[in-house]
Amino acid sequence: MNMLNIALPKGRLGEKVYDMFEKAGFACPSIKENNRKLIFENEACGVRYFWVKPSDVAIYVERGAADIGVAGKDILLEYAPDVYELYDLDIGKCRMAVAAKADFCDDPRRTLKVATKFSNIAKNYYDSLGRDIDIIHLNGSIEIAPILGLSDVIVDIVETGTTLKENNLTVVETIVPISARLIANKANFKFKNTQIEQIVQSIAAQTGGKK
Ligand code: PRP
Repeated sequence: MNMLNIALPKGRLGEKVYDMFEKAGFACPSIKENNRKLIFENEACGVRYFWVKPSDVAIYVERGAADIGVAGKDILLEYAPDVYELYDLDIGKCRMAVAAKADFCDDPRRTLKVATKFSNIAKNYYDSLGRDIDIIHLNGSIEIAPILGLSDVIVDIVETGTTLKENNLTVVETIVPISARLIANKANFKFKNTQIEQIVQSIAAQTGGKK
């Protein structure tokens, strides 16, 4: 049988996703036993799982190293990989938002300094508003930027809001809601359609979610 290659995002979200695949009839029990190994397969049900960095899932799928995978809508919006977005899993929910210090007041005559890991999302958002910005691309701990005067605002993921609160920042605007999406490689979606459709249907039955 043709093995189905599935890229899972390493971490808590990935474990939830694996449980959904297991319930869909694609179990691979060894995955729960070893926490340093990265590839697991179960020939009997024709699946091979691998753990990758959440932000890399879409790359594996786009290039066909994985047939399907689960990626956050944030990554799909930021990198626009050429993949099919099959299903909204309705988990890993958060939002992409603009945040700033509580006393922030936008002066439209000045170029707005925006610190973010999501430069394309930030650029598209402010383009749509016709607002001039200067993007400061950072790789993490974005919340520090406005505190130290590196930027006026940040564009970042807000889940519980705790990180913002602990750093005395507040949400100025929500850009877009985010959740985890099941994605597929475009060519492999055709070759392995039966298995992939079976997974999509079963996950749909589990979540009652939306396409
Ligand atoms: C993300 C995000 C925020 C935080 C939001 O960071 O960038 O910092 O989670 O979550 P909260 O609203 O529940 O506090 P992540 O943990 O991915 O680390 P990072 O600093 O590398 O971005």
